[in-house]
Amino acid sequence: MRGRDFISIEGLTADELQLVLSTAARLKNEGYPNALSGRTLALLFEKPSLRTRVSFDVGMQRLGGHTVYLPQSEVGLGQREPVADVARVLSRYAHGIVARTYAHQTLVDLAEHADVPVINALSDESHPCQALADLLTIRERKGGVRDVRIAFIGDGNNVAVSLAQAGTLAGAHVTIASPSGYRLPEDVVIGAEENALASGGSFRVIAVPQEAVEGADVVYTDVWTSMGQEDSYERRLSAFEGFQVTPELMRLARPDAIFMHDLPAHRGEEIVDEVIEGSQSVVFDQAENRLHAQAAVLLLLLGEVAE
Ligand code: CP
Ligand code: NVA
Repeated sequence: MRGRDFISIEGLTADELQLVLSTAARLKNEGYPNALSGRTLALLFEKPSLRTRVSFDVGMQRLGGHTVYLPQSEVGLGQREPVADVARVLSRYAHGIVARTYAHQTLVDLAEHADVPVINALSDESHPCQALADLLTIRERKGGVRDVRIAFIGDGNNVAVSLAQAGTLAGAHVTIASPSGYRLPEDVVIGAEENALASGGSFRVIAVPQEAVEGADVVYTDVWTSMGQEDSYERRLSAFEGFQVTPELMRLARPDAIFMHDLPAHRGEEIVDEVIEGSQSVVFDQAENRLHAQAAVLLLLLGEVAE
């Protein structure tokens, strides 16, 4: 994987996904090698972040390298200068570029013009680094991902897209329940169905949360209003009525089901305190696993050898 971009889960084979997960588990359990000493990672962020920014920063430090944080207010990506120029300039200073953008196309353009690997730190279309941490968490809690029943309740957004792609690639049974108008994009549905066919998993998109959660091993939700969608907040509140993850909904899942959320959570909207603070919740394991999953990506893309 050395020298490659990581823009989407679709860019990984099933074997590569397993390699990232096993590398992440090894880093977590055995410690970090000083493999990226002297290397610099540019962190280009058009939107706010806690987990993604800090975990890339700390992960790079633990591997012996360092980061430069570049907020949009400084760089003016596509405003102060063209995306292509930013990509070419950063390629002369840094060994990799991590970018969080509004438009997914900005990431694609960065990757096209950069000479160093570009990593998607969330776009309007997908959040592949989150999905890696999610699968690592499921693997830890359920002993693997194959045949695990994952129910995602809510918006067919960036987090749902990457979870659907990664889960089906790894052989899970993934069900996404969304209200009409907020379903996964059709091309993602087709891709997830193809993945499931090849992996022995399965994939469903439905409209009833209770049906999705019935017998699930994992219940996952994300915010109804993502960053940049604030103008449609009121409309979304009413569209997602009935999609809140409550203790009643959780009772339909298996008794040993885990509850997952990428965070930040909007308590009182997609999730209630009783669930996110309850014994089934693994949301802080997920947050920790961002560190290990992304460190694995850095090691595999930027390291001298695949460690
Ligand atoms: N889950 C996640 O990506 O969090 P941040 O927006 O804080 O980075
Ligand atoms: N769907 C959310 C995820 C935040 C990590 C957003 O895009 O704002």
